[in-house]
Amino acid sequence: SSSELERLKTFITEHPGLAVLSGAGVSVESGIPDYRDALGNWKRPPPMDHQRFMRSHAARQRYWARALIGFRAVHHARPCGAHRALAQLEARGYVKALITQNVDGLHQQAGSRRVIDLHGRAELVRCMSCEAKRMRYDLHAELEATNPEWLSLDAPVGPDGDADLESLDFSSFHVPSCRRCGSGILKPDVVFFGDSVPADRVTSSMRLIGEARGLLVVGSSLMVFSGYRFVREAARLGKPIACVNLGRTRADALYQIKVEQSVGQALETLSATLEAIPQPA
Ligand code: APR
Ligand code: ZN
Repeated sequence: SSSELERLKTFITEHPGLAVLSGAGVSVESGIPDYRDALGNWKRPPPMDHQRFMRSHAARQRYWARALIGFRAVHHARPCGAHRALAQLEARGYVKALITQNVDGLHQQAGSRRVIDLHGRAELVRCMSCEAKRMRYDLHAELEATNPEWLSLDAPVGPDGDADLESLDFSSFHVPSCRRCGSGILKPDVVFFGDSVPADRVTSSMRLIGEARGLLVVGSSLMVFSGYRFVREAARLGKPIACVNLGRTRADALYQIKVEQSVGQALETLSATLEAIPQPA
């Protein structure tokens, strides 16, 4: 409703220098689906976890076959209104920095400059033995060349570029090893379930929460502790918290304002009405 948008606008103008925490909901309108429904329940095929990926070759065949099919869809995704509005709020001086749980890099593509990629970025691949890095699209060229028979498949794609290929026989899928050390397991540079978020990202995110005038949560159910802990920290410090999200979130009891609307819809009109804050000379 317009009154709740008015209250959100007041929240933003009264607390310039906001921290923003974003989740999969902000990329839905870019064609990348989210993980959980409006009740916060998981709605996707079971996610890959770190231990299984590292322990089982069959798990890696399944992972990379689904990634081969799904990657093109995610690789060509473009920012939507939510990403653009958040970049504008930063450019106008209202947003200090943004912590994202997404691995699609769309905030940066939309022009956001101060972004913490809490869960990493999908476009980089790393060798788990010698730490060699490789661009994902380069690895995908090799995957396509060595698995041509898989290219004709297409299937709905998930947030991590994981195609919803379920009961297929992946045993013929060729998974390349590291080109530098010859044997290392290649893994996307993203945080899997069972992984821990690199400490420096947690530290800089907590510092941002401490320095910011308030926190705006957008498009996240906060069902995962990794994002939720920053909302809890803002509440512990007595910072005002607002949320724009369709459906329930784990922190619903902590918000001064909650707007149950699409992030793009709520923020695009709002950010267009906000003048740039004169930067301190
Ligand atoms: N505008 C606002 N909210 C939306 C929109 C939209 N256009 N589309 C969906 N939503 C809401 C959904 O209803 C849901 O509440 O966004 C929320 C997305 O929540 P999740 O799917 O749980 O995504 P997220 O919170 O980012 O998940 C956190 O969990 O699976 C792990 O590591 C993965 O980073 C991910 C983490
Ligand atoms: Zn290696």
